[in-house]
This record gives sequence, C-alpha cells and structure tokens, in this order.
Amino acid sequence: MPSEKFDTTWKAEPHTIAKITILEAYLLTWFQIMGRSMSKQDIVYIDGFAGPGEYTNHRKGSPVAALDAAKASLTLVGRQWKAGDIHCVFIESDEKRFSHLQQVIGSIESHKRINVHLIPATFTEGLSQLKAELPRAFREACPLFVFIDPFGTTGVPFSAVEGILKSPCSEVLLNFDADGIARIYAAAESASSDALLTEIFGDDGWKSALAGIHDFNAHCLQILNLYRQNLRRLPNIRYDFAFEMQSRAGSLNYYLVFASQHPLGLEKMKEAMKKVDQTGNYHFSDAHIDQQTLFRFDNPEDYSPLMFERFKGKTVHYDELRDYALNATPFVNPKAMLKDLENNNHIFVKSRDPKRKRWTFNEEKIINITFNGGWGCGQ
Ligand SMILES: C[S@@+](CC[C@H](N)C(=O)[O-])C[C@H]1O[C@@H](n2cnc3c(N)ncnc32)[C@H](O)[C@@H]1O
Repeated sequence: MPSEKFDTTWKAEPHTIAKITILEAYLLTWFQIMGRSMSKQDIVYIDGFAGPGEYTNHRKGSPVAALDAAKASLTLVGRQWKAGDIHCVFIESDEKRFSHLQQVIGSIESHKRINVHLIPATFTEGLSQLKAELPRAFREACPLFVFIDPFGTTGVPFSAVEGILKSPCSEVLLNFDADGIARIYAAAESASSDALLTEIFGDDGWKSALAGIHDFNAHCLQILNLYRQNLRRLPNIRYDFAFEMQSRAGSLNYYLVFASQHPLGLEKMKEAMKKVDQTGNYHFSDAHIDQQTLFRFDNPEDYSPLMFERFKGKTVHYDELRDYALNATPFVNPKAMLKDLENNNHIFVKSRDPKRKRWTFNEEKIINITFNGGWGCGQ
C-alpha cells in the first residue's frame, strides 16, 4: 500500500475502522488497568505511524481514538487513579499529514493528566528522539504500549520492535504486511531487497525459512510464522497472537500481530476483538488454521483436536494450557476446549477438590491434566 496513492487524508475502508475500534477498545481497558495499579508511574502510549488524525469518512484516526480512550479511562477510574500522567506520543513522517494531525489534535479539548507529544519524524527517528526527551518511557516499570501501523513493509526494523519490548511492561500491536513481504521476496535477487528482508526479520534466517514455498498464501503464512517465532525468541515475550483482517472479498489485507509479556494483555486484546461487530464488510480470520477460517469465539470443538494433538500423552499444569489457549486459539482460557475433551474422555483431570464435577475447571484446585496417548483411546 504505497503512501503516494493517498492524499493527506483518505477514505477509511471498513477493516481500517474495525482496526481503530479494536485499538480504542483495548486502550480503554489498558489505561484503566494501568491507572488503577501502577502507583505513581507515568503511562506511555506511542503511535509510530500516526497518520493525519482523521479520515474523509471517519472522525477518528488512531491518535483521536487513543486520546478518547485515555480521557474516558481517567473519568471511569476517577479517584481510584493511582498512576501518574498519561503520555500520548504521535509520530508521523509526512509533512502535510503531520500538520493535519496537529490541527486535529489542536481542536480536541486537552486534559491536565494527558500530555501529548507530536513528533514530525520517521518511526525510528521518533523513537530515538523520545528516548532523549522522555527516557522513563523505556525504563523498568513504565507501562508502554506501541501501535505500529505502517503503509506496507518499510520503516519497521525488527531491532526497533526488539528495543521497545526490552522494557518489561511493554506491548506492541503491529500491522504486519505479510503479502507485501512475500512480494518483495518473490521479486528478490537484489542486495537491497535482501537487506530489507534482513532488517524486517532481524536476521537472515528468512533465507532458509522461506525457501522452497511456491504457493502465495502458504508463503504469507510462513512469513507471519517466522516473524512470530522471532518475537517469541525475545526475552519475556511469552504471549503473541496474530489475526488476519480481511475484506469481505476474502483477500488478505494484513495481519495484526500483538506481542505482550503478560497473559492479561492478550486476554484483554481478545476481548476487545470480540466486541467488534464482524457483520460488516470485513472479518477477522484465524491466522493459525487456514486463511479462510472465520475468527469465531464460539466453536471450541474446532480447536480441541489441535490442543489434544499438541499435548497427547502428556501430563501438564493448567497454566501451560492457559498459555496455549491464549497463544494458539481465539479463546482466553482452555476451559471450553477441556470440556469438549473431557466429554469425549480424552483427558483425565487430577484435582484437589474431591467433589469436582465433570466439565468444571477451577484453576486453583486443578493439580494437573493428563491427555490420553491417542485420539481413539477414549480413556
Ligand atoms: C496506515 S497510515 C496510519 C493510519 C493511522 N495509524 C490510523 O489508524 O489512523 C500510515 C502513516 O504512516 C506515515 N508514515 C510512512 N512512513 C513512515 C515512517 N517511516 N515513520 C512514520 N510515519 C510514516 C504515512 O504518512 C501515513 O500517514
């Protein structure tokens, strides 16, 4: 999606509006949780590719959505707000869009606890500038959420994402253009595209990981999986999730990739997605199964065989299954899938509660869960 195609502002597609709605719903929860719990800590939100602040057909670009969420959170938490101030940082490299953004933000009523930082620069330059201006944003206990929403593939070196995720309270939501990357790979042969791919993935592991795949969709999925593997290699990143945003026509638009260090982050992100109506001209698709599977939250029996396959013959603690459910299924916990598996006698649950009822999974009481050795065992 080259930026030259767009004027200073442009018309938002339905999936773009859905993306902004998901972001705002998540931030509304995130600011509130951090505001209630992070005593005296400032909270930092960075929009690395902020855009002009509005669309020709929609009042809220991502910066306005973030400011609305910040204000609403301060109101909702009220006197229980323990944290310090909120800092909203908006980075935009295009001069005209930046000045449009300034005007849009200037027309919004300010709030004494919300500090807005407007940076006319590229994402990477803006991050460096911010490190000098607001060094506490990247330190230990500072809650940091970074939204990375470029046009296409360039401008987001893996090293920048890695740098953000070094701080232990940070999270990233990234618009990942896997099919743009697949096209670069397909057209590759030049030193500059090699260098670009190495910059995107952080190393040249893509050379072997992407070789020999000829189907375009399979290539996109492999590109996504490789990126997620690289994220998971970073210290502390135990939670990552990707979902595909598609137009109704079923063509891939992009993946939204979320990386967090805390299970609650991923739980809340899924809840934010659940709130967004999928009956419009777009849908989320499950990036784990195949590219045409609608992202649904109500069909555990589609996922329980996959969970069974992953753990068959093993005895595991509930937490391991919770992490699996968060990272590899649409669910925020494994309970619905466990119910299906217990119903079919594929698992045995060892609990401290002698009166435990079948199909109930109290994580405080469960000692462990044993998966049978094969799907057909039945005991
Ligand atoms: C997809 S749009 C952002 C839309 C915005 N996040 C929203 O949801 O309303 C991408 C924006 O990034 C800007 N941009 C392009 N390259 C950039 C870079 N390297 N650093 C920062 N901004 C960049 C473009 O001018 C464009 O406004």
